[in-house]
Amino acid sequence: MEGEFEDGDIVNVHLSNGKFYGVGYINTKSKITIRLLSLQPMSIEQMMDQRIAEAIRRREVLPVGREAHRLVNGEADGLPGLVVDKYRDYLVLQINTLGMEKLKDLVVEKLKKYASPLGIYEKSDAPTRLKEGLKESCGWLLGNGPEVIYFEQEGLLLAADLKGQKTGAFLDQLHNSRLCSAFAKDRVCLDVFSYTGNFALHLLKAGAQFVVLIDYSERSLSIAEQLLRLNGFSNYQIIQANAFDWLKENSRFERFDLVVLDPPSFAKTSTSKDSALRGHKEINLRGMKILKKPGILATASCTQVISEQEFESLLNDAANDSKVLLSVLYKGGQGLDHPFLLEVPETRYLKFIITEVRRRY
Ligand SMILES: C[S@@+](CC[C@H](N)C(=O)[O-])C[C@H]1O[C@@H](n2cnc3c(N)ncnc32)[C@H](O)[C@@H]1O
Repeated sequence: MEGEFEDGDIVNVHLSNGKFYGVGYINTKSKITIRLLSLQPMSIEQMMDQRIAEAIRRREVLPVGREAHRLVNGEADGLPGLVVDKYRDYLVLQINTLGMEKLKDLVVEKLKKYASPLGIYEKSDAPTRLKEGLKESCGWLLGNGPEVIYFEQEGLLLAADLKGQKTGAFLDQLHNSRLCSAFAKDRVCLDVFSYTGNFALHLLKAGAQFVVLIDYSERSLSIAEQLLRLNGFSNYQIIQANAFDWLKENSRFERFDLVVLDPPSFAKTSTSKDSALRGHKEINLRGMKILKKPGILATASCTQVISEQEFESLLNDAANDSKVLLSVLYKGGQGLDHPFLLEVPETRYLKFIITEVRRRY
């Protein structure tokens, strides 16, 4: 590095022999001191213009919803610390680093240039901002819009709740909920950790006989209920409960043909990994018990510190404990609009498995 700098500034990085290495932003308070933006000497204005344009172009050919998809996915789009999601005519952005915070005006300028939104909302409320020395920052940066943005996704009306989680919706699961619906016709289904009902809505659209939704957020469940009605469904039950308690009390009977488990991240750091593994095992064990056999279990983990192998291994342990066999039908992760970098394993956080649960022969 050369010269004076403040945390969050753009700096040039040089090797010990003086050779130029790259340009990035610095934060001496963060565990990652410098996040590189380019290995070529280039202006930040030019870099931002190019990256935002590329990220948008990259999505144009993807088989993802046209009304809603992720436009910018951090490192994988060459923009560490920045996430941008599109919901109809609005964009919701999330900034997670001090360096990107200082580039916010430039981000907004380029999003206006390449995406022409009616409004841009900032929903920077991730607890990780604290580690960067940043406070929560939420509000409209451009224009104005509704608190709940409705969007259409393959004939379903879904919603992004700007007072809810992530950027309002779990766009990373849209692909998986669609896949899951292949197993739904005439089935009695359970959507645990339902949020605003993405899985439940897809299952009902595909002809599920009945769906039970469980979540502990009253607000998310009231939006789920609104969406279920707006989509014309009445064959559902909504239960506001702690999923761990509810599953414990109800898993003595085999009641469901299909169970979805999509819990929140159980650990933000590797220090709480063991309890996260136990939490995942517990809900999966209960999910397997409450299923009729054979039945379909669609199970996810967005706990980034748990690897794919560890997730599969805990599922296998839960299957052994509940004396069932798992026959995996599909294994995947975040949707196509959430690319990840092989060299940055942290960018691959979502594990998703659809498995048939059978009695052991
Ligand atoms: C990953 S999100 C689910 C996303 C949803 N499946 C979708 O596709 O939109 C996790 C959800 O779990 C809920 N939640 C977290 N802990 C819970 C608990 N102990 N009991 C019930 N719900 C919980 C949160 O309110 C949140 O809605």
